[in-house]
Amino acid sequence: MIYTGVKGTQDYHPALARQFNNLVGDARAVLERYAYQEIILPVLEDEGVFRKGVGEATDIVERQMLKIEGKDNIILRPEGTAQTVRFFLENSLHKQSDFYKFFYIGSMFRGERPQRGRLRQFNQIGVEVFGSHRVSLDAEVIKTASQILAQAGVGEVELKINTLGCLRDKEAFSRLLVERIREHAGHLCEDCRRRREKNPLRIIDCKNDKCKNIVKGLNLEGAHLCAPCKDRFDDLGRLIKEAGVAFVYDPYLVRGLDYYTGTVFEFTSQRLGAQDAIGAGGRYDTLVERLGGPSIPAIGFALGIERMLIALGEPKNETVVAVYVAATSPAMQSPAFMITQQLRDAGINTETDHCEKSLKGQFRYAQRLGVRYVVLVGDEEIKENCVMLKNMQTSGQEKVKIDDLTNKIKNFTTENSEKN
Ligand code: HAM
Repeated sequence: MIYTGVKGTQDYHPALARQFNNLVGDARAVLERYAYQEIILPVLEDEGVFRKGVGEATDIVERQMLKIEGKDNIILRPEGTAQTVRFFLENSLHKQSDFYKFFYIGSMFRGERPQRGRLRQFNQIGVEVFGSHRVSLDAEVIKTASQILAQAGVGEVELKINTLGCLRDKEAFSRLLVERIREHAGHLCEDCRRRREKNPLRIIDCKNDKCKNIVKGLNLEGAHLCAPCKDRFDDLGRLIKEAGVAFVYDPYLVRGLDYYTGTVFEFTSQRLGAQDAIGAGGRYDTLVERLGGPSIPAIGFALGIERMLIALGEPKNETVVAVYVAATSPAMQSPAFMITQQLRDAGINTETDHCEKSLKGQFRYAQRLGVRYVVLVGDEEIKENCVMLKNMQTSGQEKVKIDDLTNKIKNFTTENSEKN
């Protein structure tokens, strides 16, 4: 029997792993340009962090937490925001400084029904900033996400923004929703009937077409906002525009996690299909307090790496190995191995034969690796301390002294990269 991978997980073959790492490297460079500091937190976390942080009546907590068998309260983390707040408070970071900009790159786990772009184990690039109410920070955070997406080359994305208003506004919004939806209650799906009692805002996220249409007809746009929250949202729109990021206002964007207040946003891509959110975030000014700390404003976002990879399309097979050292006879395997090591020690990516392949077989392997040069180690040349150096692009070859080989290849490689 051959085992298959667990449903909702993904394997990364070499070209995809390379694309993944390039994407992460580019994102890291953008984040460091914006002065974020990286944190690495465990994948195991106390479920209470999410029950309290993300909210009891959210999809994540109600049905997606993946538990560790036999350990009642330990789960695989479903997201990074509540966890970062746990880290922040456990280390009393607020006592050391009043402002922090963190980022993380890592796996998240949600027991969702798998489909294209929706996995049970997926990776996020996330940021969490603590200690400022300023609307300029909201704009900077949105700009950061937009820049990472642009740098990755995921193509056109749409940015939707909304504000839930302050906690009081958010509660007013929830009440207004309950009031206006009352007469439609009989037409809501079963989940939404329950949500009406437990967590009305989640009705707005419902994917059921009937519920979606009911919500669209409720005229909820902006009615709940107090004047300062409205002004703040207008300022945000102006700042984002000034930062050169296009957006649309979506009054029905509420996000599926309970900790948000104020600004919320989502980036979508048409390259993705049904699961079209490539990244999302918002303010969570009350979460630090909710998890037992002082009142500290915060904002962040997370981008889904697998969805970014889908938007990027098929990865190319890039050349990583520069040189292949071929032994033209079994007796030449030992000198071939020495030469390979000499090149590797000089920092040149090099491969040789480990399978006693024929010369033809070795060339086939070299071609599959996409090498630029093949070093042919032959009985005649080795007597003169020489090898043949074959350029795989031009098919030209020349005799080279072993002592000069490293420099020769290094010179060729620099000439080539200057030409490109
Ligand atoms: P989220 O909207 O749940 O937010 O996830 C953010 C992104 O992660 C999504 O837009 C999507 O690209 C990706 N994602 C989510 N679930 C899956 C899945 N099952 N399979 C593949 N990709 C997925 C959060 O997680 C918040 N913690 C974001 C945040 C940070 N808000 C403030 N700070």
